[in-house]
Amino acid sequence: MNPRNLLGFFVFFIICSHSLVSSENITLEFPFFTPQDFTLLGDSTLRSGAVRLTRELRLPSSSSGSVIYNYPIAFFNPETNVTASFSTRFSFSVDNINPSSYGDGLAFFLSPNNRRLGSPGGYLGLVNSSKLTQNRFIAIEFDTRQNLGFNDPDDNHVGLDIDSLVSFKTANPILQAINLKSGNVISAWVDYLNEKRKVEVFLSYSSFKPENPLFTVDIDLSDYLKEFMFVGFSASTEGSTELHYIKNWSFQTLGFRPVRPRTHPHNVSDNSVPLKPATPSADPRNRHHKRIALGLWISFPAFFCVVVLVIGWVSVKKWRSMQTGMSSEAELVTGPRQFSYKQLKSATEGFRQSRVLGHGAFGTVYKAFFVDLGMVSAVKRSKHTHEGKAEFLAELSIIACLRHKNLVQLQGWCAEKGELLLVYEFMPNGSLDKVLYKAENGNPLKWAYRYNIAVGLASALTYLHLECEQQVIHRDIKSSNIMLDGSYNARLGDFGLARLMDHGKSPVTTLTAGTVGYLAPEYLQCGKATEKTDVFSYGVVLLELASGRKPIERDAERQKTVNLVDWVWRLYSEGNILAAADKRMNGEFEEAEMKKLLLVGLSCANPDSVERPSMRKVFQILNNEAEPSVVPRVKPSLSFSNSVPLSIDEIVSDWEDCGTPESQLEIRVGSAV
Ligand SMILES: *[C@@H]1O[C@H](CO)[C@@H](O)[C@H](O)[C@H]1NC(C)=O
Ligand SMILES: *[C@@H]1O[C@H](CO)[C@@H](O)[C@H](O)[C@H]1NC(C)=O
Ligand SMILES: *[C@@H]1O[C@H](CO)[C@@H](O)[C@H](O)[C@H]1NC(C)=O
Ligand SMILES: *[C@@H]1O[C@H](CO)[C@@H](O)[C@H](O)[C@H]1NC(C)=O
Ligand SMILES: *[C@@H]1O[C@H](CO)[C@@H](O)[C@H](O)[C@H]1NC(C)=O
Repeated sequence: MNPRNLLGFFVFFIICSHSLVSSENITLEFPFFTPQDFTLLGDSTLRSGAVRLTRELRLPSSSSGSVIYNYPIAFFNPETNVTASFSTRFSFSVDNINPSSYGDGLAFFLSPNNRRLGSPGGYLGLVNSSKLTQNRFIAIEFDTRQNLGFNDPDDNHVGLDIDSLVSFKTANPILQAINLKSGNVISAWVDYLNEKRKVEVFLSYSSFKPENPLFTVDIDLSDYLKEFMFVGFSASTEGSTELHYIKNWSFQTLGFRPVRPRTHPHNVSDNSVPLKPATPSADPRNRHHKRIALGLWISFPAFFCVVVLVIGWVSVKKWRSMQTGMSSEAELVTGPRQFSYKQLKSATEGFRQSRVLGHGAFGTVYKAFFVDLGMVSAVKRSKHTHEGKAEFLAELSIIACLRHKNLVQLQGWCAEKGELLLVYEFMPNGSLDKVLYKAENGNPLKWAYRYNIAVGLASALTYLHLECEQQVIHRDIKSSNIMLDGSYNARLGDFGLARLMDHGKSPVTTLTAGTVGYLAPEYLQCGKATEKTDVFSYGVVLLELASGRKPIERDAERQKTVNLVDWVWRLYSEGNILAAADKRMNGEFEEAEMKKLLLVGLSCANPDSVERPSMRKVFQILNNEAEPSVVPRVKPSLSFSNSVPLSIDEIVSDWEDCGTPESQLEIRVGSAV
């Protein structure tokens, strides 16, 4: 058995052993979607706890996506011949960038075998158009396009579908003054009452369940509700710009009888088990099971393990044959995944010292080889403990959804044993500070690369500050947090971590992180990070890129530390800004670009936060799409009205007293607000 099989087996075993005793009523409540409980397929993404099922593009496109709850749910207990009733509620919205381009809709589904994505268009991401009969399902469709091939009555209907997209029954919600395409949040309730053989669907713009159902279908679903079913949502577009969101979801099964002693539903050869006298029981079949179980539990725990393992193994085979193409499915999964602690431990050889890539504010970074996945990654192991797990996971889901070509992509995470580990793409060229200051064989980083790094970073920060759904302030931009990919493109790392770290701390003292030399004066003053403090740090990085000097350098002659911003600003005041250019480049750079980079760097590092440009402006200036801002000849000085808790000089002298190496330059500033 290779390690992957073994892992898969254990995962299955856990699910399986969970399921064997789980023919009981379950209740699921998801006020927001969490990456660890759901699988996202196709074009679906998770952002701020809501799932968007189809692609967000201004131009019409075809896409399909689904979100599936990771664990199969029991709907039938073969032992007692009981089929469960169920009841679900969810809130969704159908938005549109261009309302004249609508379609196709979304669906809530239960399926014994659907863990794969279906086709776009009228197939609602539910069915593969080339394998129409492969998927079995019970679905409630919310259809926004009339597809005559499926006998759709109109372009605004709700329907019950069983194994086919030709609905069993449909209703137009306009009867209850609801338009699926309005863009408003709509809550839906779907109830199946097994005793009454009845499905009821309710719809409302408010979060209160209306009295009257939109429609009722008299149907016996017990033929379709299997022992285990996957539950999820899917949606599709075809040449439209429609967007489908699911905001929250709750689900419960009802009607299973209270659990009896945990017996095994599988037959075991009788003569291999010595039977103990059975306790009286009304149901002879049940008594038989009880005796076996009792015997197994008491006399042969080891044997029991073997039996369970064998059964588990057989089930794995069954599971496999049921869902061929498991690996192709894994490729379809978008977004970060959950790793087990074990997996990460073995990928880093037990967090071996020789695997350490570096140390950061968040914790230690290790190089990890995932042999089974054929993947090299960087694993960050937090040095903080994380208590508020739900809060933390909500935060993590925000970070997990950030995607930009100049950000280091989060590949996964692991939160086990109070530890938090984050798995990132591995960056072959390491961090900018190493490349910039420890130039291999004396070759300094070429100008074209430096300028490209400046532009890439501006693009990433524009995204974090202005373009992603929830603004992210980085709070610790510095050359050692800027990674370089194989082509020396900038990839900003550690974004969002400052927020994560705050969750791990006691709520009493709000601490903020940052690094000397990159901290804006007002941040030192009041400890509050804003996008303007990020702009300041970015400015310092630009000056580093241009000059090849560290933010704070020791001047050996004058026994002093030199602040890079002050140094460049002085040269600029003297009308000699190009003297700040990295000497090691021997003048091999575009003068105009060099001047621009230095000036943009200074304007970003303006002590007055109001004067600093936005990241979008910076991006435009560097791309010659906007005029550079005018930089005052003399560095403006700021005076704070109240006492300044720490000044740069104080921090620098603290740092000198400690005699710590530059890698330890990090400081923590107590918040004064
Ligand atoms: C689900 O989300 C919608 C929209 O955000 C909200 O109106 C509704 O109250 C939420 N329902 C629950 C149970 O959280
Ligand atoms: C299980 O229950 C259904 C009705 O709920 C009944 O038709 C069927 O015969 C039962 N099967 C067994 C094996 O008892
Ligand atoms: C449908 O099945 C075919 C054949 O297995 C596959 O090539 C195709 O990618 C599937 N379509 C979708 C949308 O998954
Ligand atoms: C499941 O719910 C039903 C009511 O629908 C209840 O009678 C039964 O006791 C519950 N079963 C368990 C195992 O909680
Ligand atoms: C156990 O085996 C008997 C025959 O040996 C079979 O009739 C019965 O259906 C089996 N029960 C289960 C739960 O598989």
